Amino acid sequence: MNTGTRQGRFEGKVAMVTGAGSGMGAAVARQLAAEGAGAVVLADLNRETASVVAKELPTGRAVALDVVDATAVDAAVEGVLREHGKLDIVVHAAGVDDPDVKQWIADALVDGCRIRVTDRLADTAWRRVMSVNLDGTFHVLRAAVRAMRPAEAGAIVVIGSSSAFDAPVGYPHYAASKAGVHALSQAVAKEVVASGIRVNVVAPGPTETGMAARTPAALRTGFADPGVRPYATPEEIADIALFLASDAAANLVGAVLLANGGRFTT
Ligand SMILES: NC(=O)c1ccc[n+]([C@@H]2O[C@H](COP(=O)([O-])OP(=O)(O)OC[C@H]3O[C@@H](n4cnc5c(N)ncnc54)[C@H](O)[C@@H]3O)[C@@H](O)[C@H]2O)c1
Repeated sequence: MNTGTRQGRFEGKVAMVTGAGSGMGAAVARQLAAEGAGAVVLADLNRETASVVAKELPTGRAVALDVVDATAVDAAVEGVLREHGKLDIVVHAAGVDDPDVKQWIADALVDGCRIRVTDRLADTAWRRVMSVNLDGTFHVLRAAVRAMRPAEAGAIVVIGSSSAFDAPVGYPHYAASKAGVHALSQAVAKEVVASGIRVNVVAPGPTETGMAARTPAALRTGFADPGVRPYATPEEIADIALFLASDAAANLVGAVLLANGGRFTT
């Protein structure tokens, strides 16, 4: 459930959301439309799921996009400019986990063994996570800045992760990719604020999405701490992303908002 819906907050805005076929990206796209966005472009590797969400929205349109493909990212953003004449908001939620490694960690927990990942991790697994999460973020940030600089306006919100801070045991590639995402976004934020563009990051903790559904039960148990909030809903994270995209966050530049329900602080 959305707690922060404000009718018309994004009236007439043109927005692009990556990873919009599922989880947080889908929640962001729905919320932008509910708050008056004039156009919401839902970009996802999985065009079918993005289309299902887009069809719910009066101003939604789905496009197939692999954020690893820099040329395709540029083309998608240019397509938005051609069709709508501007790009006001980009929320970059596309990202991947590593279900195989999650299973290794869960198996070790169940068997009472030490977690062994680093010496078993293949180059392909490392590259996959880094190319989608880190290279993909660079491609999206670059294309968004190219589109927004001439207008001297725009807001970009990137979904990072609390894993960049607590560096979970057995998840080195994911933690490294998200630490890179945070630093990249902050460096770009400091550069482009002079051009009227704000870049900020939400760093969620465990959140109930497609990604969480790929987390084995033994691993989920570790997150079930009665002393903190349960798994966040994607809508709760979308609320924070939309706040960052809104004028209410005008003075937030290069912020990394840790949204982990009290699991730890930084
Ligand atoms: N769910 C969590 O607990 C959690 C916690 C912290 C951070 N995150 C981050 O939040 C973001 C959103 O993830 P989610 O939890 O909503 O997961 P999700 O799996 O539900 O959604 C991710 C979406 O990204 C899309 N995608 C994957 N690779 C892509 C690519 N190369 N190009 C374009 N789209 C691609 C998928 O098709 C999917 O629709 C990710 O960056 C993830 O790393 C998730």
